Amino acid sequence: PGHLISAADLTRDDAVLILDTAEEMARVADRPIKKLPTLRGRTVVNLFFEDSTRTRTSFEVAAKRLSADVINFSAKGSSVSKGESLKDTALTLEAMGADAVVIRHSASGAPYRLATSGWIDGAVVNAGDGTHEHPTQALLDAFTLRRRLVGADAGLGKDLDGVRVTIVGDVLHSRVARSNVLLLHTLGAHVTVVAPPTLVPVGVGAWPCTVSYDLDEALPETDAVMMLRVQRERMNAAFFPTEREYSRRYGLDTDRMNRMPDGALVMHPGPMNRGMEITAEVADSPRATIVEQVANGVSIRMAVLYLLLGGNEPAVSHHRPEES
Ligand code: CP
Repeated sequence: PGHLISAADLTRDDAVLILDTAEEMARVADRPIKKLPTLRGRTVVNLFFEDSTRTRTSFEVAAKRLSADVINFSAKGSSVSKGESLKDTALTLEAMGADAVVIRHSASGAPYRLATSGWIDGAVVNAGDGTHEHPTQALLDAFTLRRRLVGADAGLGKDLDGVRVTIVGDVLHSRVARSNVLLLHTLGAHVTVVAPPTLVPVGVGAWPCTVSYDLDEALPETDAVMMLRVQRERMNAAFFPTEREYSRRYGLDTDRMNRMPDGALVMHPGPMNRGMEITAEVADSPRATIVEQVANGVSIRMAVLYLLLGGNEPAVSHHRPEES
């Protein structure tokens, strides 16, 4: 089977196919019966070595809506705490017949290692690896942008040509930023990243985006702003301006939000540090798509699992249950 390791691996056609399939999955969610039989008899393992609220639960909901069996494995409470290696964990899951392994790991490259090791036969999906990539987050963000800015029905087959997206904050530690820059560029968007100089990755010059240190300058020219979480747990204190300084220069409050054009969106992948990178007032404002992003994550993960595990029947029957 194929794998989903990096947004960099997706062509424009791949990405649009996933977005279009997710659109069909979202329509199923509006039906009285939300479940599809497509992956009946298949097993999806959620293999989480790092904490997660949204990604783990939405992969679980997605797999269950496609009728797959789901095994939730978290490193805490498993034999990983006794020193078991990734290889032996993978061989154990393989012996249990995993058709897909959704992996989150603090080590950048762990999903790639799993996919290329030969330890497992199933599809590998990267659910966030270290500071490297989080491709399904980028896909759900692109889906949210397309639905809001291009239009749900007009969206099928469409990309994000010319849409201006500004990604703000702790880019250095952000797998969400890297995946979004790569995917949004592939889909035709113009991306600007804004960060304090100490929180910009060394290799950013090779990224397909503009780099700025001035949020106030970027906001009037943006259709959507994505605020990133400040990842204190990955940070050496020397990298970081004081919290007050960070909020003053890079936090999104109502005054700053009002510098954006009418209709521009405020996004955040979650979890948020309310009061640090985003005020509560902005997070709860009508421009914010934060809860919508979570709902869209289920549709995207249904699409990814469906496309990788390749049901033989169409993903979505267009007969409504009451008609069949
Ligand atoms: N956005 C995101 O990945 O959230 P979780 O860490 O809660 O999964």
